[in-house]
Amino acid sequence: MLFFFLGLFSITQATEELYDYPIIGIDLGTTYSSVCIFRDDKVEIIPNEYGFKSTPTVVAFNGTFLIGEEAKEQGIINPQNTFYDIKRLTGRTYLDPNVNRVKKGLPFTIMQENDKICIKVSQPRNKSNKIFNIDYIQAKVLTKLKNIASSYLGVPVKNAVISIPIGFNDIQKQATIDIAEIAGLKVVRLISEPNAAVIAYGRDYVTEKTNIFVFDFGGGTLDIAATIVTKQKFEEIDNSSEMNLGGEDFDFNVVKYLVDQIYNSTGMNLTDHKKANQALKIEAQKAKETLSSQEIAHIRISNLIEGYDFQYNLTREKFEEVNQDLFDRVISTINSTFIVSETQIEDIDEVILVGGSSRIPKVQEIVEKRFVHSKIIKDRIQDELVCIGAAILANSLTKQLEKQYRFVEIKRTAISYGVETDKEDMNIIIPRLSRYPLVLSRFYTTIEDYQTGISINIFQGESEFTEYNEKIGNFKLSGIQKATKGVPEIEITFALNQNGMLTATAFDLNTKSSSQLAIQIKNKKRLTQEDIDNLRKENEQEEKLDREKIQTISKLKKYHMQFLNDIKKSKYKYALGESQLYEIKEILNTSSKWLEDNRYKLQTTTQDFQNELQNLKNSLDKILNRQQLRDSNQDL
Ligand SMILES: Nc1ncnc2c1ncn2[C@@H]1O[C@H](COP(=O)(O)OP(=O)(O)OP(=O)(O)O)[C@@H](O)[C@H]1O
Ligand SMILES: [Mg+2]
Repeated sequence: MLFFFLGLFSITQATEELYDYPIIGIDLGTTYSSVCIFRDDKVEIIPNEYGFKSTPTVVAFNGTFLIGEEAKEQGIINPQNTFYDIKRLTGRTYLDPNVNRVKKGLPFTIMQENDKICIKVSQPRNKSNKIFNIDYIQAKVLTKLKNIASSYLGVPVKNAVISIPIGFNDIQKQATIDIAEIAGLKVVRLISEPNAAVIAYGRDYVTEKTNIFVFDFGGGTLDIAATIVTKQKFEEIDNSSEMNLGGEDFDFNVVKYLVDQIYNSTGMNLTDHKKANQALKIEAQKAKETLSSQEIAHIRISNLIEGYDFQYNLTREKFEEVNQDLFDRVISTINSTFIVSETQIEDIDEVILVGGSSRIPKVQEIVEKRFVHSKIIKDRIQDELVCIGAAILANSLTKQLEKQYRFVEIKRTAISYGVETDKEDMNIIIPRLSRYPLVLSRFYTTIEDYQTGISINIFQGESEFTEYNEKIGNFKLSGIQKATKGVPEIEITFALNQNGMLTATAFDLNTKSSSQLAIQIKNKKRLTQEDIDNLRKENEQEEKLDREKIQTISKLKKYHMQFLNDIKKSKYKYALGESQLYEIKEILNTSSKWLEDNRYKLQTTTQDFQNELQNLKNSLDKILNRQQLRDSNQDL
């Protein structure tokens, strides 16, 4: 039943909670993720097992999970089981048009199960399919980052600040918190990506009050924020976000263009050829990056499909033409930032360019043309700025601070919150760009005589009609005063916490009946607490299995690499002749080759690796024993 608006509200602020050290900062990016820690009065970017500052946001499944570098590396041979771009699906429903669009460009199978988006993986070995919730897959990346940090710090890490795109609505924020929980991490705070970047930048480079425009153009989203920054304070003035605009879209456009070129020149239609598309995608991304510093990129893919070698020279001019639609969207996103705010483009002192896609020359040109009065900072920008900012905020939330960098944070909502009133109108309670945390109430009444209950639908969005906004929750208030329409007085209160997430309550002023909704708990499309607990346990179990597989593989690798050296240091140093050494080398080479072929194979299990290791040891021992026997016979 519907109801309409009567009158207005009140405001309050929430206090800050503190947590145990260490709290890590995580930038969970669409394409790359990183993890940082504040230690000894500075932020350390924690390297992954290969020494890299960022880890690909890629997960593969080949019986067990591969995460990061290894998952990305085998993507080309195993496209159907290599998952990326999942952040673009976070907190969405399967029928969301954005999901449909993203899904089309991905080589793995996205499906719906129990209202949730899942990935289907076929397992040829036991002829069955495996289905994974996408939150579970994302949790694998967070698990990896958590483990990288835990081994670096030498203590288990449990708390994190995670950065998210500005445009994430409450469901997407809650999804991020749930994903972390599956990975065994408590999110002590979410921070928007550009805000994190500007905190990091302000700390190192700002000496006096400066109006900074952050332009964070990553793999999946464009996030921008106009801020006023001093060393100790940052205030968000305005913000804007394009949720489906990032480096991946440039790659998709280029792939589409190349597929058309191949069709025109050979008549072959590769639109649905997953392996070829994956190979083209990898090369398109490389070409795009090359074109940021060069005028031409040479794309060469041998055996793109059976017997067909592909070559194409992509010019920067053609790249810009193919992606014109994306550049136009960049312009309109920048322009939308200054429509309502008091700060205008001329007031911006510095523009900081963050995110890999802001290296595209045409993007820089757009920014330079728009901000003629501002200093454009593009040379001091580290890829990890967002993560560094998250770690600085994390440090300020610890109980046992090392040395604290104190700052005041003034954040503003990116999307309006409201309720649906009569005729499906959106009645806004918290407008866009409100400072938060805050609590606001509005008063409503009934539209029918003797109505005793109401159903309250909560939406986020800017349209005056709920149809075009995102429904983020629903709850009911019963026990309303039995009276003619317009008489009951119902107070609806929206409270935004430090993460900018909503708790809604409704209260009948006359009967004192009340009802409360924390959006995150009641949304049917989301995981329940029970689902999360089960997935967390499953993840812990798999972490154990994955560790076993990785350990077996590294033992095998170690054998391949070290055995000959170890021999040279052992008592067999002089005993082994040329022919035995040759035999050993052959055995090691064959086993290395086997490992290379099987490392990423779906069918090869931990047991297979263990068997290979055991067989290798047996064969090598046999040679050594033979030698020993011969030596001892000679001694006789
Ligand atoms: N030199 C370059 N020229 C053009 N694009 C680049 C360059 N270097 C990196 N990129 C692109 O930047 C994107 C990755 O940027 P970044 O790591 O900032 O994104 P992300 O943090 O993973 O994504 P998001 O913040 O959108 O979730 C990729 O699409 C990559 O191809
Ligand atoms: Mg990013």
